[in-house]
Amino acid sequence: MTEHEIKINFKEYDTLNDLSAPERNLCLEAVKALANSHSPYSKFKVGTALRLQSGKIIHGSNQENIAYPSGLCAERVALFYWGANHPHDPIVAMATTAKAEDFEILKPVVSCGACLQVLAEVEKKQNKPVEVILFCENGPVWTMKGVESFLPFLFFEHNLIA
Ligand code: THU
Repeated sequence: MTEHEIKINFKEYDTLNDLSAPERNLCLEAVKALANSHSPYSKFKVGTALRLQSGKIIHGSNQENIAYPSGLCAERVALFYWGANHPHDPIVAMATTAKAEDFEILKPVVSCGACLQVLAEVEKKQNKPVEVILFCENGPVWTMKGVESFLPFLFFEHNLIA
């Protein structure tokens, strides 16, 4: 038997003011994305902004549906939009935030497993990790380099690569 230990590296900042200007600006774009969230069921808005190598910003927000599983998270809305429209302009950074109607969010919302798996595909496709920035209205900011920082056992099989 061999026991292994995996260390996860991320940075925590007290406020958005402690980030570099490009990171902070991307966070402000994620806040703007909240406005187009369609979340009448959960009343939990999620906004994502992607910064591409060219400087272009892409926004995504969660889009819910009365048939609940038909909805989609903010991160995947943004990442699939990128794949459909700008696949040759690599994603440098992705900022995500959330705002709830009924309670205060005090720590960054970490993207769900399905969104992380999609982010993993993006990183493989562009052969570059994405800087992930997670933050909320009233709490710290977390930054991580690449999806493997928080999904070390993500599904990957090199024999399946097209
Ligand atoms: N949601 C996201 O947009 N991103 C995540 O990573 C987790 C959850 C959305 C889905 C749903 O519209 C609402 O948050 C509550 O789960």
